[in-house]
Amino acid sequence: MHVILVGFGVVGQGFAEILLQKADTLEQTYGFTPKIIGVITGSRGTLYHPDGLDIPSLLNGIAEYPDTDGLIRNLNADSMISEKQADVVIEVSPTNLETAQPALDYCNSALDSGKHVVLANKGPVALAYHDLAKKARQMGLHLRYEATVMAGTPTMQLAEDALAGCTITEARGILNGTTNYILTQMEAGMEYADALKKAQELGYAETDPSGDVEGWDAAGKVLILGNALFGTSNTMDDLDVDGITQISADDIADAKQNNERYKLIATATPTGGSVKPIRLPNSDPLASVGGATNAITIATDLMGDVTLIGAGAGKMETGFAILSDLLAIHRTNG
Ligand code: HSE
Repeated sequence: MHVILVGFGVVGQGFAEILLQKADTLEQTYGFTPKIIGVITGSRGTLYHPDGLDIPSLLNGIAEYPDTDGLIRNLNADSMISEKQADVVIEVSPTNLETAQPALDYCNSALDSGKHVVLANKGPVALAYHDLAKKARQMGLHLRYEATVMAGTPTMQLAEDALAGCTITEARGILNGTTNYILTQMEAGMEYADALKKAQELGYAETDPSGDVEGWDAAGKVLILGNALFGTSNTMDDLDVDGITQISADDIADAKQNNERYKLIATATPTGGSVKPIRLPNSDPLASVGGATNAITIATDLMGDVTLIGAGAGKMETGFAILSDLLAIHRTNG
């Protein structure tokens, strides 16, 4: 499987590290031998080699990549995606929840030129899911986006594959790692600004973390769940969105004294959804989900509530989601 990576930040590098670590296991257990043949970045240029790029050299730095035979530097992103042979385009560049660009154009070019698309970038799945899914279906290609909701915790596979046949009536939970990490650290006495800085250092936060703390990242996930599980076509304007910026250290201390905790709760329903900070009693199962861990409860007709708890953000955790989507493609197309 030849892949092109659009973006080489925390998630792209996490995915590359996993390929390096797991190369033998992937080959021996699954007969899976992926090669990164192209890397496209916004500020560090692009690299392309038809036989595959060397992962340790990539991780050492795009600018420092050695000039090997056949290497093409700074090939235009559109040309690489639409004209070069590859099996999968992986979109791991920063999310834009206003326009989804430039990722949306790249996804369309990839599908138009016969390539599967795997995303950690939430923009195109939140804002243009139905068009992309239709195009992928018509072309007989995969559009996969496990990483977009709860990193590599298999939320989309649970809801779309394992629970297929059930009618889902609601999906509700803690869907942003950064804010859950901040709230947990503030409970332990850390200042808001320090907790946010730490969440950025740990690779949980978006490039612009205001998207996390103001609730927009979780809202993007509500749109994704709505699009994929309920077939809705809502926009941000249809959702009721609030973040954690109004919650003070005093509020958190007061909740703690009363055996309660603040959690940013995201809800997707068959018609709309919301993101709201809610003060939960410590006895609520969601109250005990701390740090960058996320949780989702999927309400169904045949199975009642099914709850999944796991990583919601992080370098290896999100890198794994990309691997899991590639393995799913490999299993059906291998
Ligand atoms: N910034 C996101 C979060 C990354 O904190 O949950 C995962 O989507």
